Amino acid sequence: MAIYPILQYPDPRLSQAGQVVTDFSDATQIIIDNMIETHYAQKNCAALAATQLGIPLQITVIDFSEEKNDLLVLVNPVLTPVGTQTTCTKEGCMSVGLYTNQHIQAKVERAETILVKAQDRYGQPIEFEADGFLAKCIQHECDHLHGKIFLDHLKQVTRQILEKKIRK
Ligand code: NI
Repeated sequence: MAIYPILQYPDPRLSQAGQVVTDFSDATQIIIDNMIETHYAQKNCAALAATQLGIPLQITVIDFSEEKNDLLVLVNPVLTPVGTQTTCTKEGCMSVGLYTNQHIQAKVERAETILVKAQDRYGQPIEFEADGFLAKCIQHECDHLHGKIFLDHLKQVTRQILEKKIRK
């Protein structure tokens, strides 16, 4: 097991999309185990995407439960909004200030409910609907897997204000 370093904005690797995972062998299982260990080693971490750890693969690990006992591993997730309702709530990111205890947050508009189609860590298909914080979290992670961070959703002026606050 190993703990991966979490890439920090503006690391250019955060802008690179992950590749679709087709290999579910031991090598991938080790990566996923290390991602889980990395996730649980952090304070205030809801989820991590492989692309935040310098691994260009479409894998995310999610657990925002108090007891850290509600793990969700999504591989190759594809999201579809359900309905047209959106919510606009504050987001932060382990790659944008959170890791270094800076309070860099901004409101981001997300679909309230999404249909998630993905594979589990062994390649088995998963499909479920998510809403609320889980839906927001999965959308944020899926952005990472496509080389996008929450700052990319903001108006230029809002982003500039936050960028000034980010310690480089
Ligand atoms: Ni993030």
